[in-house]
Parts: sequence; C-alpha cells; structure tokens
Amino acid sequence: MASRSLWVLPLLLAACGTDNECVTPQGCGPEQLCVSNRCVGTDVEGDPRALYASEFRLRLDTECGICHFAGANGKGVAPGDGSWRLYSGADLSADEIEASWQDVQDFVKPGDAVASLLLTYARGEASIDPERDGTKAPHPAVYQSVENLSYARVIGWLSLFELPPLPAAAPPGEEGYGAVIHGLLVQGCSCHTAPERAWKIAGPDPDAAALAESYAATTAWVSAADPEASPLLGYTRGEYGHSAGRIWAPGDPQYDLIRDWIRTTGP
Ligand code: HEC
Repeated sequence: MASRSLWVLPLLLAACGTDNECVTPQGCGPEQLCVSNRCVGTDVEGDPRALYASEFRLRLDTECGICHFAGANGKGVAPGDGSWRLYSGADLSADEIEASWQDVQDFVKPGDAVASLLLTYARGEASIDPERDGTKAPHPAVYQSVENLSYARVIGWLSLFELPPLPAAAPPGEEGYGAVIHGLLVQGCSCHTAPERAWKIAGPDPDAAALAESYAATTAWVSAADPEASPLLGYTRGEYGHSAGRIWAPGDPQYDLIRDWIRTTGP
C-alpha cells in the first residue's frame, strides 16, 4: 500500500499545477527565458503565426508597445496604415490579434531574419521622423546585441518565416505589376502605403483604380533603359539616404524580379 501512494504523489502535484518550471527568467538557466512557465532557449520551433499569438505579440508589446500601440503618437494610426502598430494588452479579440499579425508581417524579411525592418529599426539603424516635419532622428536602439535574450529569441522566431514561392518572371507592364510586383512592394516597402509619402502605393488587394494609380506612381521612379539606375531600386538598395536603409539587394529574388520587370516595362 505504501509504495502505491508514493507513486500517485507526482500525478497529484502535476494536477495542482506545481510543475511550472518558472515564473520569471530568474527561475531558469543563464541562457534561458521563461515562456508560459517553461524555461526555453533562444531557438524557436513551430508555426510563426501561432507563436505570434501565444508569445511574440506579448514580447513585442512589452518592448515596443509603449510607442507602437494602435493610436500611438497621437496619429490615430492603426495596424494596416503603413506604420507598424499592434493592439496592446493581454486580452485581445481574435480580430485584434489577426490585424496585428497582418501588420507585423510587412516588417519581416523571410529568409533573412536579422535584416527584417522590424529589427533594423529596433537596433537604431533606421531613422524616423515622428512629427512628419522633415526632422530626422535615429530610432531608439531597443535591441543592441544578442546578449539581450529577448532580441535573440525574436530573431529565432523571425527565422521561421519562409519566402513565399515567387514566379521566375513577371509579365511586363500593368499586368505584371498587378499580378506580382505590387504584392512584393507592399510586403517590402509597407511604409509607402502611408498617405504622406512622395512615392505612395495602395495597400494589399487594391481595387482597379488604386492599382492603376500605384502603377503610375511606381513607373515614375523607374528607367527601363537602365533598370539598375532606377531611383526605385537605388532606394531599395539603401542609397540616397533611404531612412529605412537597405530593403533588397541584387541577388535577392524580389530585387531581381522587380529589376527584370522594369527592363520590360518602361518608361
Ligand atoms: C520610445 C519609443 C519607441 C520604442 C520603444 C520603439 N519604437 Fe519603433 N518607432 C518609434 C517612432 C516614433 C517611429 C516613427 C514612426 C511612427 O510614428 O510610427 C518608429 C518607427 C518604427 C518602425 C518603422 C515603421 C513605422 O511605424 O514607422 C519600425 C519597424 C519600428 N519602429 C520597430 C520597433 C520595434 C521592433 C520596437 C521594439 C523592439 C520599437 N520600434 C520600439 C518609436 C519607438
């Protein structure tokens, strides 16, 4: 009888929830964080979207939310308005989590986590103009080195994003713009979906009129005779003092697709 009751004890303890490994990182090893009462390292496995909902929206809310919550900086900006915004707080509706998830993806570089815009800004390598009056200042350097385990874990999460399959080429002109190029630009250049930009494009899934306007706005910055000399690609490479730095370089599949489309398109 005695041995049998000893065997039951661990089960009872588990049922009471006392198997929590940690409540704070202090309860874990030196290279570990406490996530959902488990000690974890900086490598991340699983589905990036599910992990956003369970962990990373809260992590980003803690580290960035004070300036990036929906409506921050008195601009009334919400997710989807060209800036990066998230809904703040632990108790969000499914719609708020989904809108925040849609927004964060525009600042991720699949296949090159460290070069994601989210991190370029958070390392203080991009400049901002919060008053929109031409006064540029560096973004606060929230993340400075991977010794910040939270930064290292965000890199681990961003490494899970995969590049969606891209076609080998886009058809020339407006057709290829609508079918391929606009989607790439929205993902890589989402700041330019905000109304006040000199080069401005519509957000995802535009109607025909907004698409035609975006096509015209984009072709004003390209040169078919010498695609690499197109200002659109120069800014993409981080030239002309582009405040967000480099987005894509030659050899990146998006860059090469856009360059080849410019060559066949004009003006
Ligand atoms: C102290 C305030 C502050 C903190 C903290 C902060 N940011 Fe920002 N961030 C700004 C401001 C101001 C801008 C300029 C544009 C704006 O008003 O949204 C900006 C812009 C950005 C942008 C460019 C897109 C945009 O919204 O214009 C990204 C991406 C970004 N921040 C990422 C981050 C990340 C990731 C963190 C946390 C790790 C973070 N920021 C923390 C103030 C902050």
